[in-house]
Amino acid sequence: MSEETKIVIDSHEQLLLSLPKTNGWLGDIYLYQGFWCPSKILTNIISLQKHYQAHDQHILLASTPKSGLTWLKALVFSITNRVTYTLSATPLLTSNPHELVPFLEFTLYAHNKIPEINSTSDISLSPRLFSTHIPYVSLPESVKHSNCRVIYICRNPFDSLVSFWHFATGEGRLKYTMEEYAEKFCEGEVGFGPFWDHILGFWKESLEKPEKVLFLKYENLKEDPVFHVKKLAEFVGFPFSLEEEKQGVVEEIIKLCSLKNLKELEVNKNGKFMPNFRNKSYFRKGEVGDWVNHLSPSMVERLKKVMQEKLSNSGLTFKAVLC
Ligand code: A3P
Repeated sequence: MSEETKIVIDSHEQLLLSLPKTNGWLGDIYLYQGFWCPSKILTNIISLQKHYQAHDQHILLASTPKSGLTWLKALVFSITNRVTYTLSATPLLTSNPHELVPFLEFTLYAHNKIPEINSTSDISLSPRLFSTHIPYVSLPESVKHSNCRVIYICRNPFDSLVSFWHFATGEGRLKYTMEEYAEKFCEGEVGFGPFWDHILGFWKESLEKPEKVLFLKYENLKEDPVFHVKKLAEFVGFPFSLEEEKQGVVEEIIKLCSLKNLKELEVNKNGKFMPNFRNKSYFRKGEVGDWVNHLSPSMVERLKKVMQEKLSNSGLTFKAVLC
């Protein structure tokens, strides 16, 4: 082990000792800069906070876990690469969306790597698409001060909670019942939580700087995909021409990126983009309101109360749960 790596590990351990901790689904999570950070990626986050230089051509896709980020990645990748790849030869047919739009904290800055994403030659590959679950306040300063764009996808907390529980139990490592997990969620003690702080951070920024942060709701994307895909394309600077609209390119992208289509691809049935997670776990039902089948009335009441407390006066509401 090099001296430099040893110093990083020692200072990481010292930092962990100084932070509040609780149990997460994959081990301890630590309260770092106001959010619950999985211990395994804290070093990656510190490294990217220090080294990642956002450029104007970068587009960052962000969310709390299980809010529809996989879908957003597929859509934005297809929108921004439609000139390079025809829809019948797009890499989306053979790669999971998370491989095409990598996570800064899980992938790019993992294993003490500092990726070459800031070099001039890389910029020629613009736009560069990255993703993250890090809350807005903890993103590197360069994200806030450059003209890079941020697209945030948010989902009603009820479906998001239920989706996460299925994902984590499906991967065989969540030891909580739905009720226990719902309680943790309401306490805010889940990876990248509290949920409401995460969504409010991006929500407020999108109100103050709408040209920089686009705030999308999963439910709205489901309800009117054509409108939102066009909006996404305009936001990232790749608007559809009238000719493209006439040819049905928007609808073709929506079809390509649909849950039904992506779920059936070989890469998403049997592949793995990260060693511990099967690609198939990222595609389940994709329904709005599935929570009614999983949450007891007392869990619903408890979560409604918390969300009302946390979100009232923010102007942020969710049709699916009326809170
Ligand atoms: P459900 O568990 O409710 O089905 P994330 O991508 O942020 O990890 O979120 C996963 C959720 O988004 C899962 O929700 C998953 O089924 C849904 N999802 C994945 N791909 C989708 C797509 N192309 N269209 C709609 N929903 C999708």
